[in-house]
Amino acid sequence: MKKISMLINAQDRISHISPEIYGHFSEHLGRCIYNGIYVGEDSPIPNTDGIRNDIIEAFKKIKLPVLRWPGGCFADEYHWKDGIGEKASRKKIINTNWGGVSEDNSFGTHEFMRLCELVGCEPYISGNVGSGTVQELSEWVEYMTLEGGSPMSELRRKNGREKPWKLRYLGIGNENWGCGGNMRAEYYVDEYRRYQSFCKNYSGNELFKIACGPSSDDYSWTDTIMKNLGSCQTRGISLHYYTIPTGEWSKKGSAREFDSELYYSTISKTLYMDELITRHSEIMNRYDPKNEIGLMVDEWGCWYDVEEGTNPGFLYQQNTMRDAIVAACNLNIFNRHSRRVVMANLAQAVNVLQSLILTEGEKLVKTPTYHVFDLFKEHQDGELVYCFSTNEMIGEKDRIPLLSSSASLKDGVMTITLANCSIEDSAEISCDIRGFECSEASARILTGEVHTCNDFDAPDRISPDEYAVKLENGVLSAELPPCSVVTVTVR
Ligand code: AHR
Repeated sequence: MKKISMLINAQDRISHISPEIYGHFSEHLGRCIYNGIYVGEDSPIPNTDGIRNDIIEAFKKIKLPVLRWPGGCFADEYHWKDGIGEKASRKKIINTNWGGVSEDNSFGTHEFMRLCELVGCEPYISGNVGSGTVQELSEWVEYMTLEGGSPMSELRRKNGREKPWKLRYLGIGNENWGCGGNMRAEYYVDEYRRYQSFCKNYSGNELFKIACGPSSDDYSWTDTIMKNLGSCQTRGISLHYYTIPTGEWSKKGSAREFDSELYYSTISKTLYMDELITRHSEIMNRYDPKNEIGLMVDEWGCWYDVEEGTNPGFLYQQNTMRDAIVAACNLNIFNRHSRRVVMANLAQAVNVLQSLILTEGEKLVKTPTYHVFDLFKEHQDGELVYCFSTNEMIGEKDRIPLLSSSASLKDGVMTITLANCSIEDSAEISCDIRGFECSEASARILTGEVHTCNDFDAPDRISPDEYAVKLENGVLSAELPPCSVVTVTVR
């Protein structure tokens, strides 16, 4: 048993936790959209306009705040006009990034916007800079957001949508240093300036424009972009960082089979997110001292070798308690950096990489990662407060702190989220809560042996349970079992 002391000072309010930190990502990749979120109107699987009802409900339950689409790498070869109008006459293309499969464009702008309406989340559109044109992106914005009287708004009406949609988040390209065009930062930033000039605010809609930011530790990319944004009304730059257990792209490791050394290596690699955000933020601080440009971690999560027997281009992987710890650590990191980090999108929502949900025919499984988002959801829109822990370093080769934590206040209620990252030891927590009158505490826990997952035969093997904690004279005591994620609600 490890003993850890914590101190929370509710009067030390640090930053607002933007709900979008709890965002997600859905790409035309493998079975994320087709045979995942979207099954089509004629499917025997219960759906609304082709979108699975059980997925809509699951997304609503975790208050999913924002969904990024259509990619990823797919975004920079997506031509939005292929995905509007009569479905039967939509153009069929090959998805060259992901498995070379045929894409019939039956899920396009109207279907994506409908999905967001049904879930009640903000849409986040990733525009095509790599293989598109300025006119194409400009017209897409016009099509979606201009009320009437223009060629694109009339086309939208003709396709059955009278009113424009609200579109806040617009990404100008994706990974333009890689699959989005292999551009140099100097070249991309000029392209960004040009493209964004023609993406206008119509009919009361206000775009939150996001430039393509760095991959992982490419600090020079961040510096060049920040230095050259000019007077564009940029509200965010992205950051992509994936957790790869071995650190090697050619052999990333299995989602389900790993030893304790690889477990600690995975958590250590995921905690690197903290250093990345800190260092990119330091660069951003130099150019944007007032924090007007957010860092949007719009792709993150664990990336393993695909499940045996599945299409290597589909990136399908299982999800265990290791992923739950990874999710909890990252969400606590994002909360703690919420002054600069205003959005994050886990890759990806359904059937791809570190998913919330896995499907097989009509069956649906909520992964341990899904349950972590459920446990953390009350942080959305809260105020981050000071939260310190004495902590202890664990692991033999890769050393990591045992406890991951953050705390926030909203509507007079405190939410504390904790992860015991040890897979061997329990942790006895004693947390002194100052500056907050409180008399009761309740908690929920997600825990299990680190390899445990939910699957189609046992969809609820891992799910949150009620959990007893003690609150006496402002001191919260809890015993966290190994490999556990806990949320404590204090009133
Ligand atoms: O999420 C899978 C891929 O990872 C995305 O398409 C791309 O942006 C990133 O490299």
